[in-house]
Amino acid sequence: MDLSEHIIMRELDVPDINDFEVYRRHGGWEAYRMALKEKTPAEIVAMVKESGLRGRGGAGFPTGIKWGFLPKGVYPRYLLCNCDESEPGTFNNHQIIDRNPHQLIEGVALSAYAIECHTAYIYMRGEFAAAAITLERAIAAAYRAGFLGRNILGTGFDLDIYVHRGAGAYICGEETALMESLEGKIGQPRLKPPFPAVAGLYGKPTIINNVETLANVPRIVEKGVAWYRSHGTEKSPGTKCFSLSGHVNRPGNYELPFGVPLRELIESPEYGGGMRGGRPVKIIIPGGASAPWLTHEHLDVPLDYESVAAAGSMLGSGAVIVLNDTVKAPHVAYKMDEFFKHESCGKCTPCREGTHWLVRVLHRIAEEGRAAPEDIPTLHSIYNQMAGNCFCLLGESAVMPIKSALTLFPEEFEAVVAASRHHPHGNGHGDGRHGPVIPLTAKR
Ligand SMILES: Cc1cc2nc3c(=O)[nH]c(=O)nc-3n(C[C@H](O)[C@H](O)[C@H](O)COP(=O)(O)O)c2cc1C
Ligand code: SF4
Repeated sequence: MDLSEHIIMRELDVPDINDFEVYRRHGGWEAYRMALKEKTPAEIVAMVKESGLRGRGGAGFPTGIKWGFLPKGVYPRYLLCNCDESEPGTFNNHQIIDRNPHQLIEGVALSAYAIECHTAYIYMRGEFAAAAITLERAIAAAYRAGFLGRNILGTGFDLDIYVHRGAGAYICGEETALMESLEGKIGQPRLKPPFPAVAGLYGKPTIINNVETLANVPRIVEKGVAWYRSHGTEKSPGTKCFSLSGHVNRPGNYELPFGVPLRELIESPEYGGGMRGGRPVKIIIPGGASAPWLTHEHLDVPLDYESVAAAGSMLGSGAVIVLNDTVKAPHVAYKMDEFFKHESCGKCTPCREGTHWLVRVLHRIAEEGRAAPEDIPTLHSIYNQMAGNCFCLLGESAVMPIKSALTLFPEEFEAVVAASRHHPHGNGHGDGRHGPVIPLTAKR
């Protein structure tokens, strides 16, 4: 499936497109200039609503509808561009900024105009130091050209954009924790409601959108709703920049229309290029670490929000991780849950304690090869006590790897239990070599 024109990775092949003048020569900033001069903010909101653009940060919520939640007549309003991008397997936001920072800045500026906001922040993961500098340079060029600042292009519209670097915590990608962090507090989620559109940054109406979401807006305004909707599917219009990683020959970011089958992304010579060494696909995680796992049986699932949900998973951030038959399911669950444990902000007990115990038991099983028979019910018990009880989606996400592993590959856990039974010191309750292991019980 070939794209005649990239929407997100726009002007991908133009040398020096990250230069303000080169971007301008290729039609850049034109949608913004035209919008400021010829369209009202409400008209831009209507276009984005009609385009069916869905948020690319994970939930796929329709962007125009989110913008419509802003209470009428309440100012100031803020726009926050979420570039925390910390989900394992997700790396497209970073590349959009590296390749074409002006496209994002134009998207932020256009969206700010649409929601009548005069101060926008791009919240960046602290480690993205080079990308932050790239963005700051590009923003400075836009100020110099009169596209940002006061009375922009003589239209009376004012806008300032700031880059804010976080300290490198996955939870700061969660929208309410992001706002806490931006306000200078500890990055921990806030209770919702109120939702950010009503009371967000500094208690004011706030829209938070992902980098990829905002990078779509200039093209929608420039080329129109019908053109945009001619890509993708009815309910998932447009294209998605899939971050493909794992045991494929050609990992990378590939922009494709929604609805392309998983198989094409993985096997096409232009994209994934097939599995390394021709080994079979075992686990597919289609939406970043927090998505339930799929298997080789799902290779023909179309990559759009509805089809992936119908297959029992979620498209999430569009990070497709593909693993072959050399990996063991308990090991994958252990590595994923180790990430969630490390990133748990500690605010609520089910996540703070649950991730700790999951990792503790999984480490013994996956890394030491020792398991007691009660370990399997214990793992089920821990994730069941977490599911639905965590304060935010980070804790709920930590349930997915272990639940997927136990549901899809129970025999791999049972094999460790069986091997431990036959091992003289391998009963899972301490063998003197690894130090004592505190016995766990499935019941409270
Ligand atoms: C733990 C956690 C981490 C998240 N990290 C990100 C992130 O790095 N980038 C992002 O855009 N959204 C992230 N999200 C989703 C945001 O909370 C929010 O839904 C999103 O930025 C909204 O943008 P969109 O409507 O354009 O998708 C995260 C959510 C959770 C629960
Ligand atoms: S679920 Fe985890 S990350 Fe979210 S508030 Fe609770 S402890 Fe913090």
